[in-house]
Amino acid sequence: MPTLTFPGTSFPPLELPERAPLSLHLTASNSPALFGCREGVCGTCLSRVIATNGDLEPPSAHERESLEVYAPDGETHARLLCQLQLTADIAVEKL
Ligand code: FES
Repeated sequence: MPTLTFPGTSFPPLELPERAPLSLHLTASNSPALFGCREGVCGTCLSRVIATNGDLEPPSAHERESLEVYAPDGETHARLLCQLQLTADIAVEKL
């Protein structure tokens, strides 16, 4: 099962099933993640996501469109958590 870590916070690592929808599993009590629309539109869940063991699928065309609007210039690890397919261990930092 993929493990999520939250560098720079006191949240402990979290194991979730592969491809588990993060917007259903991450809450204010177990992670720094915040969600709004859960559809890849509002940008609330924008985070820096770094695969620490394994590979993530690249963003879909829909996610890429939103990242072009919300991701800070030069941030190459920006992802929308609500759109992410969990296929690797990841480190997550809220942007
Ligand atoms: S919660 Fe709105 S883009 Fe992810």
